[in-house]
Amino acid sequence: MAKGKIAIIGDGNVGTNLKKGLERTGYEVRSVGKEPDKVRELAKWGECIILAVPPNEIDSAVKEMGDGFKGKVVIDPSNIVDASYDFAGDVDRSGAEKLQAQLRDAQVVKAFNTVFAENMSDGKASGETLTLFYAGNDDKAKKQVREMGEALGFDPVDAGPLSNARWLETLGFLNITLGYKQEMGTDIGFRLVHPDAKTERPTEMAASQRA
Ligand SMILES: NC(=O)c1ccc[n+]([C@@H]2O[C@H](COP(=O)([O-])OP(=O)(O)OC[C@H]3O[C@@H](n4cnc5c(N)ncnc54)[C@H](OP(=O)(O)O)[C@@H]3O)[C@@H](O)[C@H]2O)c1
Repeated sequence: MAKGKIAIIGDGNVGTNLKKGLERTGYEVRSVGKEPDKVRELAKWGECIILAVPPNEIDSAVKEMGDGFKGKVVIDPSNIVDASYDFAGDVDRSGAEKLQAQLRDAQVVKAFNTVFAENMSDGKASGETLTLFYAGNDDKAKKQVREMGEALGFDPVDAGPLSNARWLETLGFLNITLGYKQEMGTDIGFRLVHPDAKTERPTEMAASQRA
């Protein structure tokens, strides 16, 4: 039985990779690009919506959804950068908080923005498990995102209320800076070391391989 219906608005790098991973792990997934009529239809269909459009298209996509988002979990993976890949967000009020103000009847969760699209389908970079940081105000909504992250292969970590999305957005910017400006490429990512991490620690792996 499918785990849930995920509607992905935007079928670019993020949309394609999340669709691939979520389908592999048993979710029913449909995605759509810049086709206003279909966006509304798809938003109504989904139990959870992932808004994987460029930041400057978020307002249009919100309008295109009509009331299809009402009562749903809406995942915001956006990183707000300008044409030169410089930070164009707001550390006093995150993009996710602005989105929540537009989608009052939805539960917005910030997630996936600290991960490169190429690493989203399995939650790994350079062969290691990545942390999936997520922030939101509704525990049920966050549980859904946590389960999604676990299914994909991430170690999900609750980063607190939606107001903390401002720090996830700056962390997402650091990821972009390291990948592109510092030329480390996209096979990189963040992992939080913590006692409950569902990942083997490299030192333990190395020790068990040596034994
Ligand atoms: N790429 C990454 O590694 C990465 C990582 C973390 C977070 N993010 C964030 O994730 C979001 C998506 O990034 P991306 O790299 O996937 O971008 P992308 O490859 O440019 O894809 C964006 C997709 O959104 C579609 N789109 C544009 N306007 C739309 C609208 N009004 N309604 C519906 N669909 C629309 C585009 O369709 P058309 O092609 O027809 O215009 C395209 O399919 C961005 O906010 C980005 O900051 C990206």
